[in-house]
Amino acid sequence: MKKIIHVVGARPNFMKLASVYAALAKRGFLQKIVHTGQHYDDKMSKVFFPELEVPAPDINLEVGSGTHAEQTANVMVRFERYVLKESPEWVLVYGDVNSTVAVALVCAKLGFPLAHVEAGLRSFDRSMPEEVNRVLTDQVADLLFTPSEEADRNLIREGVSPKKIHLVGNVMIDTLIKSLTQAKRLSFEAYPKHYALVTLHRPSNVDKNEVLIKIFTALIKISSRLPIVFPVHPRTRQRLSCLVNFECPSSLHLIEPVSYLQFLGLEQKAAVVITDSGGIQEETTFLNVPCLTLRENTERPITVDMGSNLLIGTDYNILEREVGLILEGKGKNGKVPPLWDGKASERIADIMMSA
Ligand code: UD1
Ligand code: UDP
Repeated sequence: MKKIIHVVGARPNFMKLASVYAALAKRGFLQKIVHTGQHYDDKMSKVFFPELEVPAPDINLEVGSGTHAEQTANVMVRFERYVLKESPEWVLVYGDVNSTVAVALVCAKLGFPLAHVEAGLRSFDRSMPEEVNRVLTDQVADLLFTPSEEADRNLIREGVSPKKIHLVGNVMIDTLIKSLTQAKRLSFEAYPKHYALVTLHRPSNVDKNEVLIKIFTALIKISSRLPIVFPVHPRTRQRLSCLVNFECPSSLHLIEPVSYLQFLGLEQKAAVVITDSGGIQEETTFLNVPCLTLRENTERPITVDMGSNLLIGTDYNILEREVGLILEGKGKNGKVPPLWDGKASERIADIMMSA
């Protein structure tokens, strides 16, 4: 029986792992889960495992927070010890976080075959730490599972052998499809009936006070027309605590990060989602909920070309105007991209059977 090690570390990894783990389990793979500990608050980590029906990790490397070098290096040193002991046939990594690239480098140096789930995404913006992680991981991966044709083209352009690339679709959408009925059953009586859902955590939006203040000024204005529900990421919470004189109106509900099912429940009912998250651009496209992305670029252009996503950049007047249009029923209507059909993980598992 083939032994596979999955490595996850940060919130968006867990949803992707859930579907792939289930598909491989059906086929009888021997699976181990390594949690790097990059995210460690219960609400950013522990809550997802029972909810997504994923077994608790076999090991937590407990790397915690730090500079990019510290975090990446700590994952490398601790994962190296584990992988040498376990000697798996394959290591699977997800997405574009520091844990992903750290494990990719370890596998490349030791010669453990590496598969990358969600390969080929590019924002073409190297100032984003994730872009560096994506490019490097894809260069050393032996199997690259992509969500869109555009991702395949990006990889070919970078010289990746077409033999290694498999267009499988979107594993995050697999998990969404499985979870939606359950999420719709949840009740949200504590929140307004009609609301905008907001998440923000990109360093470019939250790490500089002047940018964060501009964004919050716009959100406060918007909340006077449409109440806002905003589960606050710990990075953003920390930055907000540094802002003096910041007064939050009652129409702006700043809450703790919520569980996946709760977030999905809130997302599918939102009048509009305002975000800088990668995964949320995809989820809103699938749900056809209008999404306004506070970024200049996206590694998921299909959500703009086909889906309900609009890039707002940093002009917050445009943000207010677009929210107004959505409230008048003039929001963008989107389509679901090909292969975002709930079967991406099954395709991955079939390929892994013969890999
Ligand atoms: C990371 C990923 C980002 C991903 C995001 C998902 C990298 C470079 N960044 O960003 O791509 O979109 O996760 O949410 O890998 N913190 C806590 N508790 C936690 C985790 C973090 O308080 O459980 C705080 C710490 O102050 C930490 C800060 O948040 O320094 C940032 O955490 P980190 O994992 O470095 O980056 P994220 O912004 O979470
Ligand atoms: N999410 C969640 N709780 C929240 C906010 C987001 O479960 O309070 C989920 C969301 O549904 C999506 C994933 O987290 O599945 C996206 O993760 P995040 O925005 O942290 O990372 P990114 O996708 O930007 O890397």
